[in-house]
Amino acid sequence: MILKNFIVFEGIDGAGTSTQIKKLTAIDPINFVATSEPTAGATGKFLRQMLSGDFKVDEKTSAYLFAADRCEHIFGRGGVKELIDSGKIVISDRYFFSSLAYQSISCGEELPRLLNSPFPLPEILFYFEIDPEISLARVNARNEKKEIYEKLELQKKIAAQYEIVIKEYEKKSQETGIKIVRIDATDSIENISNTIKKYFR
Ligand code: TYD
Repeated sequence: MILKNFIVFEGIDGAGTSTQIKKLTAIDPINFVATSEPTAGATGKFLRQMLSGDFKVDEKTSAYLFAADRCEHIFGRGGVKELIDSGKIVISDRYFFSSLAYQSISCGEELPRLLNSPFPLPEILFYFEIDPEISLARVNARNEKKEIYEKLELQKKIAAQYEIVIKEYEKKSQETGIKIVRIDATDSIENISNTIKKYFR
């Protein structure tokens, strides 16, 4: 099922989705609402601590936690569903495609697929394509403490898994109705922004 007016941005770490979401929502701050996963809620905060390396959980546990956080994001109070029902256009930085890419590397494809199959599809998915060497250099330039997945070898595997997942959704896009837009994330911020804006006129 497609959730109309739900837009998702995906890509490996440092692909530049957050910058573009800021630029897009700035066009119409009343009607566009930006959200993200992990969320700012309790499960999302717990996940942030896990991502920062404060503690470790089994990889399968993190797949469950990302899915639980997602359930709140979509169906919880003030969540995506409510926002859309009140007439907003919701733009999310990451969604279940992240779990199908990241968690599939660490705990295999089966569990992330199972846990995420009940979630609705977004109307549009913008997938940011970038060489992991370039995106990781951007992450390093931020001079922030690195998160657990921000390592080159891992990012290469995640990028390859994303490609598998995106291709699969592109193949079935005729029947599902999802629109998938590939973005060259090495292009300039302005060019990318102009490309994205065209989908909202
Ligand atoms: P990210 O969007 O990179 O946040 P920030 O730019 O604020 O650090 O997301 C944090 C990390 O969470 C990123 O490495 C991807 C990971 N992640 C998963 O592994 N699975 C998921 O389902 C989601 C939503 C994120």
